[in-house]
Formats: sequence, C-alpha cells, structure tokens
Amino acid sequence: MTLLQVEDLTVALPTRRGWARAVRDLSFTLDRGQTLGLVGESGCGKSMTALALMGLLPEGARASGRIALDGEDLLMLDEPEMCRIRGNRVGMIFQEPMTALNPLQPIGRQVAEPLQLHRGVGRAEAEREAVRLLDRVGLPNAAQRAHAHPHQLSGGQRQRAMIAMALACEPDLLVADEPTTALDVTIQGQILDLVTELVDERGMALILITHDLGVIAETVDRVIVMYGGAGVEEAATDDLFAYRAHPYSQGLFAALPQIGLARGTRLEPIPGTVPELADMPDACTFVDRCPIAVGACRATPPPPLAVGPGHRARCIRLDEARRRSQG
Ligand SMILES: Nc1ncnc2c1ncn2[C@@H]1O[C@H](COP(=O)(O)OP(=O)(O)O)[C@@H](O)[C@H]1O
Ligand SMILES: [Mg+2]
Repeated sequence: MTLLQVEDLTVALPTRRGWARAVRDLSFTLDRGQTLGLVGESGCGKSMTALALMGLLPEGARASGRIALDGEDLLMLDEPEMCRIRGNRVGMIFQEPMTALNPLQPIGRQVAEPLQLHRGVGRAEAEREAVRLLDRVGLPNAAQRAHAHPHQLSGGQRQRAMIAMALACEPDLLVADEPTTALDVTIQGQILDLVTELVDERGMALILITHDLGVIAETVDRVIVMYGGAGVEEAATDDLFAYRAHPYSQGLFAALPQIGLARGTRLEPIPGTVPELADMPDACTFVDRCPIAVGACRATPPPPLAVGPGHRARCIRLDEARRRSQG
C-alpha cells in the first residue's frame, strides 16, 4: 500500500535574480516500512525536498506538484491542517537538534506535548510516556533527565531527545535530514543504529538524507541521486551500487570500493562546483559539468529512461555513459 506519492514536486524560491527552482519535477513513491535515501552534493535540493514534505518551506517559497500521504495532498492543506500531520503522521529529525527543540522547556515536556496535542492523552500520562520514550532512545536516567533543558544535555543526548519527540506519536513516515553529521563518529554510529532499529520496530517508512554512502548501503532499500533539484537517478540500493547509469552518479561514486563499503565513506568531490540556483541550466541540470554532454542536452529536460527494472536515469546519453564506464 503506497504511503507517500510525490509527483512532479517543484519548489521555487525567490532569489535576487528572480524565481529559481530548488526542487524540479521530483517524483517517487514510498510504501509503509520502506526506506529511501536521498544523496547528492550540498545544494542539490535534498533539504528543500524534506522541508516540502513537512510543510516547513522557507517564507516565500512556492511548491507545486503533489505530495500525497495516504491519498491526501499535503500541498493543498492550510497551516492548521498541516499541524495535524506534522509530528503526528510525519516526524522529522534534523542535523541540528536545536532546530526542533525549544531551549526554554524541559525535554520531557517537549516529548509529551505532541502526545497531548495529537493523541488527546492527559498531561500526567503523556509525561510518563515521554520518560518511556526517552529511555527507549537510550537517554541515561530518563526519569531525571526528562526535567533537563536542552543545553544541559550533550549533542548526542539532544539528538536522542529530538528522535523521541519525532517518534512520540508513532508517525508513519520519518524524515531524517543528515541526522548525525554534527556528531562525533562513535555517537553517529549509535544514533544511526537507533534510527534503523526504531524504523524496523515500528514499521515506519524512512527518508534518509546523508552524505555517507556506507550508511546508504546498509540502511535504505532505494536511493534517489539528486542534482540541481532534479532526481537524476533512482534505483534499488544494490542495483545502484552495482551500476550507476547517470554521468553525475558515476562521478559522485567514482572512488567507491566494490565490496566492504564502510560507514564513513564520503562522497567523492567531482570536478567543478554546484552552480547557484539562479544559474542552474534549464534542461539537464548537470550539462555544464557533464563530460559527455552534447547540444541536445541543453534543449529539454531529460525524461526518466529505464536502465533496468525499477532503475531509471534522467539522461539522454545513457549508452555513451555505459560505454565510458566500461572503457
Ligand atoms: N531560504 C532559502 N532561500 C533561497 N535559497 C535557498 C534557501 N535555502 C536553500 N536555498 C538554496 O536552495 C538550493 C537547495 O538547497 P538545499 O535543499 O538546502 O540543498 P541540500 O540539502 O541538498 O544541500 C541551494 O541552491 C540553496 O542555496
Ligand atoms: Mg541539506
């Protein structure tokens, strides 16, 4: 049963040089219990996609297309209706927990609040449940720590508290935007293990944004590679690691070891830089950096072409890309 269906999602932002699209015609579906990774260099539209799903786009942004959660188009909802979804049906964890946590309130209270708000649970029961959740996410002495303010916790503990908050109402979908990037390596591993365990345990769907290809390899079922706001390639994780069809993915994964991909394997920088949003080419976004671009690549946005079952890439030069990758 399809939980989430995103169709032609486009997010336009006002820039000094007019409207520019941070997300372009992005489409994908996600079933209950499925996990999807979004990868790509900084500035490729991953966070904007996550924010669009949460109804948290920056002031002035315009989203179009469709984001259907169990058939209900989130883009059509007003803010009070979106509040009913956010934190309830869809939970989000961010790189920086202070984005989600209120510095002035004890964390127990913050975890309890969505339960009172969305589930109609009484205050005392909600606070008991908050302690159970804080304990579940591995916060030591949860009953006492529930009274702590965010600044009294370590970075890893704050991340755990934010995860407890995101999970309080047992959302169907968890969106995690580089949830561990700010943490030291040992804690990163622990937090990721926790997220994967919880996603399994609760049968949630997960959208995970990360730069860590090792984490992608071991955590998600499917991957979308994004460039310039466009989903340039989508495949089952194993298929993508076996063969990258799009020249951008080929560059991005260039120095990849074939087996035993460890956590901490970062994306390889590829020549050139991501242009500013207003300078992004209109047709294929990657054309200015692409080693095999031809004139036609500048004419129209490339359609998603089949590479294999469930594997698509938006590139009109797939044959040439394959020849090069084998040469
Ligand atoms: N508030 C904003 N206003 C205008 N442009 C923005 C804003 N936030 C991000 N951008 C631009 O939108 C593009 C996509 O950003 P983002 O989704 O954050 O990328 P990613 O998460 O993949 O690194 C980038 O070009 C970025 O500079
Ligand atoms: Mg981001």
